Amino acid sequence: VMASSKGDNSEFFSRVHGILMYKDFVKYWDDVETFQARSDDIVIITYPKSGTTWLSEIVDVVFKDGDVEKCKRDAIFNRIPFLECRKEEMMNGVKQLKEMASPRILKTHLPAQLLPASFWEKNCKMIYLCRNAKDVAVSFYYFFQMVAGHPNPGTFPEFVEKFMDGEVPYGSWYEHAKSWWELRKNPRLLFLFYEDMKEDIRREVIKVIQFLGREPSKELVDKIVQHTSFQEMKNNPSTNYTILPDEIMNQKISPFMRKGIIGDWKNHFTEALNKKFDMHYEQQMKGSTLKLRTEI
Ligand SMILES: *[C@@H]1O[C@H](CO)[C@@H](O)[C@H](O)[C@H]1NC(C)=O
Repeated sequence: VMASSKGDNSEFFSRVHGILMYKDFVKYWDDVETFQARSDDIVIITYPKSGTTWLSEIVDVVFKDGDVEKCKRDAIFNRIPFLECRKEEMMNGVKQLKEMASPRILKTHLPAQLLPASFWEKNCKMIYLCRNAKDVAVSFYYFFQMVAGHPNPGTFPEFVEKFMDGEVPYGSWYEHAKSWWELRKNPRLLFLFYEDMKEDIRREVIKVIQFLGREPSKELVDKIVQHTSFQEMKNNPSTNYTILPDEIMNQKISPFMRKGIIGDWKNHFTEALNKKFDMHYEQQMKGSTLKLRTEI
């Protein structure tokens, strides 16, 4: 019983350049590192559980000029492949992308130093979406429970310890967020906050449209805001991951589109845990100008 959270995770995870990662992904990491970007690729980057699917759907609607029916034609993970995702021949983000016509939109959770060099060489446009660490930790905890390939996360406080130590896939949230924040002045990178999107989705959607070089007409913005609301995305079979079997993603344990709110951490952190987390957070983020809101 002790083994559940303390124990060894080597059955599920190994390391790539020091970062904890899904073992199945690491096995073919050469394919990721040598990935050939195209100059018109759009790269969507997040730490896990930070609104990736939400932003992905927004970008896809922009590319489809507001035609949401075109977006419904296929599951999100086929329209916007997950670069480093690999499970033998069953899932292969690199292969999906190779076979895809341009312009491609792709998703990755990689910290800046692990992004394949080709994306920098080709000067691709990238959008990083950042969400406050407390809500990410809560969401990741549920994700561990519902998605195959994760060890038992133990109790929430036990999981939070691992999160603080960066002993979760993709490593330290703190290092991840800081690595991309340092690049925010690069004109090819748009840095967004989940909390800003919850606060004023129109404002943030307009930023995305303009970054992609399109005209933010009222009609397009209206359509995106309507189509990518939490309720729409939760009820949309092409975005709610419903087509994955329970063995891979068991939405009876917890739905993929769970709450999509800011501040659910308050329902999970005890006062003591919160204090500990805040102290550690301050140490980790010392010297960084990156500021996240944990409530709005
Ligand atoms: C996904 O959407 C479909 C269609 O609206 C719905 O039947 C299904 O229950 C949804 N799945 C989840 C897990 O919410």
